[in-house]
Amino acid sequence: MKDQTLTIGAVAKRCGVNVSTLHFYEEKGLIKSWRNSGNQRRYNKEVLRRVSLIKAAQKMGITLAEIKAQLSTLKDKTAPSQKDWQRLSENWQQELNNRIQTMERLRDYLSGCIGCGCLSMKVCPLYNEDDKLAKKGQGAVLVDGQS
Ligand code: FES
Repeated sequence: MKDQTLTIGAVAKRCGVNVSTLHFYEEKGLIKSWRNSGNQRRYNKEVLRRVSLIKAAQKMGITLAEIKAQLSTLKDKTAPSQKDWQRLSENWQQELNNRIQTMERLRDYLSGCIGCGCLSMKVCPLYNEDDKLAKKGQGAVLVDGQS
């Protein structure tokens, strides 16, 4: 039977990451490998999906701790089922929607007042007269959706 397992080099190449990144993910408990009879490190193919998800989530600004918390809900030994991934994506959907909304607000407000208290933009008095938004929260109140 053809060996379906992957070497660390093959995983790194297919996922577009460095081998050192895979060692780091393993150190952090995000992925797992084992040693074959030749004492070589091997991975299941489903590790490709995990690593790709980790990269995508990191690009969205999700922390490794949050990623680990979510991935730890998946079964260890066997490849996660469609249902497992469905559950994981539902967990993440709200988090991703929040981030998308924040990014949209940032995109929309960037050229105008972000409600930070500087009152330096011509439009600030329209949105944040006398820094009234300071009562609603800290930082860029309009971007963070605290208004
Ligand atoms: S941009 Fe800072 S208060 Fe308007």
